[in-house]
Amino acid sequence: MNSDIVNQIFNETRGFSIEEHLLYLIRVFKNEIVFSTSFGFEDQVITDLIFKNNIPIEIFTIDTGRLFPETYRVFNATREKYKQNIRVFYPEAESLEKFVTEKGPNSFYESLENRKECCFLRKVVPLQRALKGKKCWITGLRAEQSENRQQLSMYSYDALYDIIKFNPLLEWTFDEVKNYIQTNNIPYNSLHDKNFVSIGCEPCTRAIKDGEDFRAGRWWWEQSSGKECGLHT
Ligand code: ADX
Ligand code: SF4
Repeated sequence: MNSDIVNQIFNETRGFSIEEHLLYLIRVFKNEIVFSTSFGFEDQVITDLIFKNNIPIEIFTIDTGRLFPETYRVFNATREKYKQNIRVFYPEAESLEKFVTEKGPNSFYESLENRKECCFLRKVVPLQRALKGKKCWITGLRAEQSENRQQLSMYSYDALYDIIKFNPLLEWTFDEVKNYIQTNNIPYNSLHDKNFVSIGCEPCTRAIKDGEDFRAGRWWWEQSSGKECGLHT
């Protein structure tokens, strides 16, 4: 049972540092473990922990084709700093070509249905490929980011992808993440200096104003409080 595996992991990793968690997961899942990065603050912390400790966990990113130039710059700076590759997954060309041909390049502003389809084609389908054959998926999710995310635990079973999910920074605050980046001199997305907190695709991300919640800058024209793109359900 997957819940038994999750309980066992919880019991065996109690009190572990993040590095110890990662080393434990390598022993349990061998090469069937991956970390997904969008090069945001949180992901850069996890990338640093993996690369600087030479932990053999594959890091991948999904290039939706609509990312900010700043995101490609931090992608490149990260490769250069650690002298390591980060695997890239692209959307499947044919279905995306059809979608954009029929609906235009910015149809996500017109309806929730279009927005979800765009996220599905540009993010979820490549994610399905990235997670294929894997047993454990590490992410940079934090509880503070949204109400939905406050319900998460550090380890869980994700039935949609049939995978154990590990969110090592779940309980970290934004300031703790930022301090880690500064103290360790880690490359970061320069948009963070312009009040961008959660950074996704360029047309669907804006800076937040003082007092707004962390994800207010994502799909800001939508009313729903549970805004997710389908990567995390
Ligand atoms: S999203 O679902 O709204 O896009 P968010 O931007 O908060 O997610 O990021 C949460 C986590 O999802 C990141 O820490 C990362 O693990 C993963 N993630 C998000 N976008 C990508 C991407 N383009 N490529 C790889 N992983 C991603
Ligand atoms: Fe498309 Fe916007 Fe979703 Fe990116 S965030 S995949 S551009 S709808």
